Amino acid sequence: MITFQDVSKSFGRHQVLDHLNLHIPKGKITFILGKSGEGKSVTIKHIMGLLKSDRGRIIVDGEDITDFTREQFTTYRRKFGMLFQHAALFDSLTVGENVLFPLREHTKMSLPDMLKRVEEVLTQVGLPHIQHKFPSELSTGEKKRVGLARALVARPKVMLYDEPTTGMDPLVSEMIDELIVKLNREEKEMTSVVISHDVKAALATAECIVMLYKGKVALDGPPEAFRTTDDPVVRQFFAGKVEGPMEFL
Ligand SMILES: Nc1ncnc2c1ncn2[C@@H]1O[C@H](COP(=O)(O)OP(=O)(O)OP(=O)(O)O)[C@@H](O)[C@H]1O
Ligand SMILES: [Mg+2]
Repeated sequence: MITFQDVSKSFGRHQVLDHLNLHIPKGKITFILGKSGEGKSVTIKHIMGLLKSDRGRIIVDGEDITDFTREQFTTYRRKFGMLFQHAALFDSLTVGENVLFPLREHTKMSLPDMLKRVEEVLTQVGLPHIQHKFPSELSTGEKKRVGLARALVARPKVMLYDEPTTGMDPLVSEMIDELIVKLNREEKEMTSVVISHDVKAALATAECIVMLYKGKVALDGPPEAFRTTDDPVVRQFFAGKVEGPMEFL
């Protein structure tokens, strides 16, 4: 679904991506792991066309997006649903209106069809009866799930999650991880990309894992490959140890 061929990106003298070759398969859950500052968010921004690479090519859903124009990117971004670290709902709109928003902006559906779709996604995230509430009346976990419903409502081909559970309590985190799995199973064609530094969640949730280190892929493969690898840097990261060969900037 998403391929990076030899992609490099520097900010000033700081090279973040270094001839990165990356492959994210269609219809699966892929975790992109790496310690803070390794370029996970930068990678996602390249996928969304929010940053431009210095070299290399990026191919998404069969299209080479490297030289897309601004107009092409506007249409292209409708393929994606994004769940950011802070769900950022519109506080002055109800839950129902929040979830309706992308449909109004990007589709020509009739209002009854839109309302039906809103109800459907809110049910999918386990919140069927809260349409009339305002974000201020919701718990953190509920807000996150409403954000998820809003990202999902226009049927994206790719769901991007940037640190979906960072800063949440363990129970809410686990619920969100389970929801990511459930949604990916229900939406058969949908590709899910999760940016994370949560090793445990990755091993439990991912079908594929890509670990970034020094601007390249340190290792990619199924969770099993990470449990059994001999690579000292990957082993150190998965063990959560400061001692070891991994370099900290
Ligand atoms: N717009 C920018 N201008 C300059 N430097 C940037 C910019 N965006 C990112 N960087 C730098 O690129 C590096 C990678 O940043 P990135 O946000 O991708 O890290 P990350 O892997 O997502 O880390 P975290 O886990 O903390 O979110 C960092 O050193 C950051 O300072
Ligand atoms: Mg980040």
